[in-house]
Amino acid sequence: MITIEHLIVRYEEQPALDDISLTFAPGKITGVIGPNGAGKSTLIKAAVGILKDVNGQIYYDQQLLFKNRFPIKKQLGYAPEDTELFPYLNGVEFVQLIGTLRPTDNLAGAVDAILNLGGIGDERQDLIMNYSHGMRKKMALAAALIGEPRYILIDEGLNGLDAPTLEGIKQYLRGRADAGCTIVVASHDLALIKTLCDTIVVLNEGQLVGSFSAQEWETIIQDQAADPDRIYEIVSRAK
Ligand SMILES: Nc1ncnc2c1ncn2[C@@H]1O[C@H](COP(=O)(O)OP(=O)(O)O)[C@@H](O)[C@H]1O
Ligand SMILES: [Mg+2]
Repeated sequence: MITIEHLIVRYEEQPALDDISLTFAPGKITGVIGPNGAGKSTLIKAAVGILKDVNGQIYYDQQLLFKNRFPIKKQLGYAPEDTELFPYLNGVEFVQLIGTLRPTDNLAGAVDAILNLGGIGDERQDLIMNYSHGMRKKMALAAALIGEPRYILIDEGLNGLDAPTLEGIKQYLRGRADAGCTIVVASHDLALIKTLCDTIVVLNEGQLVGSFSAQEWETIIQDQAADPDRIYEIVSRAK
């Protein structure tokens, strides 16, 4: 469980998140949605503890994040929206390096399995400096998943995957949720969120518009599936 209490984030005095309180439940896949600039990435970055100007509290289970950063990060898989990887490592080396953070019986085997799951073929032997944007995103995802972290936060990391790879990753995430992990996926892709998530958190202009079960969400979007902007408008009115 990740608990966020009264989170306020500002960028150079400009508020990006305004007093957000919510929980990401274990055993569930939570989707964070909202239009561009809503604060999705800011929420995820604050939740993983990489933002400076943050007010409020973040707990991982009962542990306060800012007092327990290292033990928590060892159990935390985060795929950022903008990926930063080591250019001088190849794909296998990079995922293996991240994997050493998390106790894993057969790390080489686990790296192989995760790279296969992520749809990364022979390119895994190439240096990351030569990777395309799409390949970097896949690597970030593989690094977030290696070693079975208890908390998995993915920021727009499932966009642009080919259909079979996406299906494999969705099944994998469902399995991790069933094993009790806390999983959060931020995305502007409403169709993806609808088919993946148990709980849907809607942000708009730095505000928490609402938190909905999959069934509630289904009812809300029933007639509006083609027009995301209309959905956000309806949801903010229903607040
Ligand atoms: N590093 C930054 N410096 C200044 N403003 C930022 C920065 N990152 C995000 N913002 C602003 O904060 C708001 C929320 O951004 P973000 O969390 O990236 O939204 P989303 O992921 O929902 O598109 C936007 O208005 C964005 O322009
Ligand atoms: Mg974003």
